[in-house]
Amino acid sequence: ALGLLSPQDLAGQRFVISAGGTREPIDPVRFLGNRSTGRFGIALALAAAHRGASVDLVACNVDAALLPHHPTITIHEAGSARELQAHMVRLADGAQVVIMTAAVADFRPATATESKLKKDGTVPEFDLVENPDILHGLASDRDHGAYVVGFAAETGDEHGSVLDYGRAKAKKKGADLLVVNRVGETSGFGDVETAITILDRFGEIRAEAGGSKSQMAGVVINTIISSRTGD
Ligand code: CTP
Ligand code: CA
Repeated sequence: ALGLLSPQDLAGQRFVISAGGTREPIDPVRFLGNRSTGRFGIALALAAAHRGASVDLVACNVDAALLPHHPTITIHEAGSARELQAHMVRLADGAQVVIMTAAVADFRPATATESKLKKDGTVPEFDLVENPDILHGLASDRDHGAYVVGFAAETGDEHGSVLDYGRAKAKKKGADLLVVNRVGETSGFGDVETAITILDRFGEIRAEAGGSKSQMAGVVINTIISSRTGD
């Protein structure tokens, strides 16, 4: 019912949105992972769907209770970074907008053992290898034709501010927009208020806002629409 009250300004458009965090297997029962819940990506999927878009939501290890039920949202499940990449590359083809909110593990164990590691008196050691940079790949190879949006959770430290790191990342990634999420004790992760700064690929600020994740999802979508048309 909510959707009928919203302007259907995204009708006919397909959004591909990743959410959650990847898990990189160590053995059949253990993984390297992260604390991303997927809430921001889900808020974006719902905001786009309410405005008439069809959405492919690629959910990485998202709690089933959080997954949206909406007639124009199709959910695809991915576990590891490489599974996520396969979904994103396939689904990006012909989409209008691709958004990477998923927290992708930068590294994975070089090999996952086929049987469970046992505690046998020695401490196991394992090599890590770098995962593919999915966002950078989507921003570099533009055959898909979609507008590409990335996310970055930054804290800032003694070497630079949140904005310094965000600008450097925006230029490095080459996505059309990078949504910088200020992560602190009181904002960023979990079900809390969020502060965002949206940068273009030159590091210029396109929008700044704070509020709930669903409010911020609306700001992100409006900024995508106005930036895409060169407004
Ligand atoms: N990302 C990706 N593939 C990776 C790592 C990150 O697609 N292997 C995407 C994320 O989904 C996000 C954006 O890149 O949209 C920024 O992720 P982030 O981890 O902040 O960037 P990194 O380049 O990995 O930099 P950092 O050293 O800060 O982790
Ligand atoms: Ca990273």
